[in-house]
Amino acid sequence: MPSSSKRVLIDTDTAGDDAQALLLAATTDRLGIEGVTICAGNVEFDRQVENAKYALELVDNETTVYEGARSPLLKDHEFADQIHGEGGLGGDLFPETGIDSGEEYAVDYIVETVRENPGEITLVCLAPLTNIALALKKEPALNDLVDEVYVMGGAVHWPGNDTATAEFNFWVDPDAAKLVLEHLDVTLFDWGLSVRDTAFESDFFSTLRTEDDTALADFYLESTKVGRAYNEEHRGGERTVQPDSSVVAALIEPDLVTETDHAYVTVDEREGITRGHTVVDTGEWELGAPRTTLVESLDSDLFERMMRSLLLDGTPDDAL
Ligand code: RIB
Ligand code: CA
Repeated sequence: MPSSSKRVLIDTDTAGDDAQALLLAATTDRLGIEGVTICAGNVEFDRQVENAKYALELVDNETTVYEGARSPLLKDHEFADQIHGEGGLGGDLFPETGIDSGEEYAVDYIVETVRENPGEITLVCLAPLTNIALALKKEPALNDLVDEVYVMGGAVHWPGNDTATAEFNFWVDPDAAKLVLEHLDVTLFDWGLSVRDTAFESDFFSTLRTEDDTALADFYLESTKVGRAYNEEHRGGERTVQPDSSVVAALIEPDLVTETDHAYVTVDEREGITRGHTVVDTGEWELGAPRTTLVESLDSDLFERMMRSLLLDGTPDDAL
């Protein structure tokens, strides 16, 4: 890894978009992946573990995958295989890599890694926040030990994707999300941002189909197949959004972020129709000191170029 690379630890519930995020991180010279940790989320836990290993192996990356929380802190949860397909990668891909997981429990690995490298590690949180909340319980000084904390989750002044009021990651473990947002300085990429600035439509898919076939383009098309069909049926067109990969893209190229705000953010952890709802106060309500950086817009053309470059040339860096 080049010495100037930003060191990231990626926590993921590996389905399609998480896999694209891992591919971005594994193929850029600008990031070095310390480790990948798996948290209960999109699909059955062991599938998520295999999916992460498979994505990394696709690009010859040997980062160790550590297994973490298999359920949310307190709540029951449902998978999202209606979006991602049964195994999480479109429904037809069920990788068995034969690669061993790291021996340590993911939460212990996170805590140990940030303690050994104070101020050096950026946590990239692409899953329900259970592992991160458990790490925070184990190491209350977590905020001082990390470099940054980037989170995909929540729906800021926007309808959810999992319920009318909540985004999936926050809905699955609202207790963890609340804890993390109230105790860590988070840079938040919410579902509304994903919809506004990371959507790909048929012209993007056509390019992938007509350019010289690449393994990564094929993988992208396969792993987004069920989601594209779902969106065509329920959301007015064959499209994908890339919530998780846009977080990693912004770490690779900070200029991707074109607008931010600061706010106090917390999460409704109660059962009921507002479970997982993102509560945002930019000052008017005096709910608390603003400690969350809200990412409000991205350069969507640059993001699309980075993803195209990843899928067709094997690295996002050619687009930079
Ligand atoms: O709700 C968005 C989340 O769902 C992201 O973490 C993405 O991976 C998708 O699974
Ligand atoms: Ca995810």
